[in-house]
Amino acid sequence: MLQGGPAARPVPREKAMAAVTESTELSLQHLIDPEICIRCNTCEEACPVDAITHDSRNYVVDFNICEGCNACISPCPTGAIDNWRRVSSAQPYTLEEQLSWDTLPAKTEPAVTAEAELPAEVARLTAEASAGQGGPVSPPWSAAHPYVNLYSLQNPAIATVAGNFPLTDENASADIRHIILDFGNTAFPVLEGQSIGVIPPGIDENGKPRHVRLYSVASPRNGERPGYNNLSLTVKRVTHDHEGNPVPGVCSHYLCDLKKGDQLKVVGPYGTSFLMPNHPGSSIMMICTGTGSAPMRAMTERRRRRIALNEGGELMLFFGARRPGELPYFGPLMKLPKTFLDINLAFSRVPDTPKQYVQDLIRERGTDVTRLLKDENCYIYVCGLKGMEDGVKEAFRDVCATHGMDWNSVYPALLANSRLHVETY
Ligand code: FAD
Ligand code: A2P
Repeated sequence: MLQGGPAARPVPREKAMAAVTESTELSLQHLIDPEICIRCNTCEEACPVDAITHDSRNYVVDFNICEGCNACISPCPTGAIDNWRRVSSAQPYTLEEQLSWDTLPAKTEPAVTAEAELPAEVARLTAEASAGQGGPVSPPWSAAHPYVNLYSLQNPAIATVAGNFPLTDENASADIRHIILDFGNTAFPVLEGQSIGVIPPGIDENGKPRHVRLYSVASPRNGERPGYNNLSLTVKRVTHDHEGNPVPGVCSHYLCDLKKGDQLKVVGPYGTSFLMPNHPGSSIMMICTGTGSAPMRAMTERRRRRIALNEGGELMLFFGARRPGELPYFGPLMKLPKTFLDINLAFSRVPDTPKQYVQDLIRERGTDVTRLLKDENCYIYVCGLKGMEDGVKEAFRDVCATHGMDWNSVYPALLANSRLHVETY
């Protein structure tokens, strides 16, 4: 079997890569994985500049023609098209080399995907969101392949609002909405745990186009309504900044005020880390407050739709809100069978009831929490208020201590094994 990459091409590439580390200009080279490609010709048809060709063996991308427009990425049914290697601009893989491969070249640099070219503001927002664990960790080994960055600020997808429903009651301190976006004939593949970007219309106070805001997808990969090309978001209308000063949040007001039939500009999808495990028997522990429930709703719904497959594993949820009327998806949550989802709701402002945070319930459920911490097939997700990160970690530290475990060694092991994922904002 032919091997692609440095091993099969010893001297010149190694020389080139050595030069790369010194001064040579680097480029991302777009490649097609010959092991996954089903040779359906979709990419060649989709390419607007004829950069993709094939012979009887392989489909290949001409480095000198490809403009990286990503038009071929979303139509590809297998994901074989979404492969990138950082190479010396002076010495990319040639067509001849690519046509000879049975496998892609090994990565000589850290993993590179289209996400490496994220818009700067998106890269900043996603880095801040995962800062609580020191940056994004690898996804679970069994996570599905995520598509990222298919639609750019220059080339956004246009979505149509298919519905906009309140999730909180009329007395709630916040207006949180379930917003369904329909993508019509535009492919917009997402996985549970990914986010999309919304570009609010108009200009900011400096006369520049408004910057993109990120929203977690709240529906599973096959859509809010399976078979329809749609997804849902859980959006809170921001009326105060984190210090409590009144702020009419630009994008959240824009989204919450959208009516059925309105159109909006969407970019992304984004996120290659906060993804759910797919292997049978895998368990998920979810810890969230407020709109941090969006990715948890997506994961739970994915599992709910697959109940009949009896794939095993547990779902445990810790969900914090001021009171039941402020808790997104409260009604549907309460209808899910206890055997399917172990629900732990923490309310902080119910009259005549002691204030509870998610971390209090993690301590109360210490026996089950430590059992799942020990279970290598259990993956943990934390999403919502930035302020909850420290409290949640302290709660884990405490339950570990009372159950004979040492959080100082459990925590790095969770990160190293892609078992703990944090997204807070
Ligand atoms: P702006 O006009 O940008 O002003 C907001 C001001 O209020 C800022 O000073 C900000 O610091 C402060 N503020 C107060 N509360 C919040 C808050 N909850 N979020 C952000 N800023 C706040 N929001 C959702 O409603 N649902 C989601 O699923 C969601 N997912 C996100 C996923 C990621 C990875 C990230 C980084 C953010 C996510 N957000 C989500 C927050 C969202 O991107 C916006 O920041 C939020 O809607 C405020 O934008 P705005 O334009 O309305 O406010
Ligand atoms: P609190 O009543 O003390 O604000 P919000 O409604 O502001 O989005 O918050 C959602 C829930 O998260 C509320 O119950 C809120 O409680 C709670 N919360 C606030 N700070 C923290 C924290 N540091 N850790 C965990 N939960 C928190």
